Amino acid sequence: MLTVLDHPLLAVHLTALRDRSTDSAAFRRHLDAVGRLMAYPVLKALGVVPTTVATPLAEAPGWALAADPVLVPILRAGLGLVEAFLAVAPSAGVSHLGLYRDGAHRPVVYFENFPPGWAARPIVVLDPMLATGGSLAAVLGKLSRCGARDVAVAAVLAAPEGVARIEREYPAARLFVAAVDGHLNDDDFIVPGLGDAGDRQFGTP
Ligand code: PRP
Repeated sequence: MLTVLDHPLLAVHLTALRDRSTDSAAFRRHLDAVGRLMAYPVLKALGVVPTTVATPLAEAPGWALAADPVLVPILRAGLGLVEAFLAVAPSAGVSHLGLYRDGAHRPVVYFENFPPGWAARPIVVLDPMLATGGSLAAVLGKLSRCGARDVAVAAVLAAPEGVARIEREYPAARLFVAAVDGHLNDDDFIVPGLGDAGDRQFGTP
């Protein structure tokens, strides 16, 4: 299910990310701001259980997370969203998942580090770009085969082709984006897009 988030500051920071004159340091700052604005709605579905806490004066009712979420940043570009999500969900685990696309644009996993029991926890996949959907479909397929059932995706910018693929193949995944752009070009880049989010964050191809 797709949710296109609507917030004026999200639109402003996304515009800065698109700007070709935004350098890597500024790109990382704007991406972090986008992540913080996305974290609240993406994490809103987290389950809580009642608890009590001792204030300096008395006992007070409160809430605790039913389960700590697992953030799954897709390397490299997803790294730029991790701190933002940890800022509001500091008890979350972080399981890095390394993916690259080979010459035929097929996603290849080169790194993963999931902790025991992770699949039973709420999962939040972090990747700023959803283009063809090939990478995200590979990630969601892996999560599904491992038994993950509660999966949200924070993808800043998407192409219609990628959204359609994910909605067709993984309709249960909750997909959050800041914008859906026009189309993919012949090199499978999102147009108008923002270029390559990994390259722009880190200044390396
Ligand atoms: C980008 C992006 C996604 C993927 C999207 O990563 O961060 O992971 O491409 O493309 P798709 O929807 O067509 O699969 P990239 O492979 O460029 O790696 P990087 O993060 O290391 O730059």
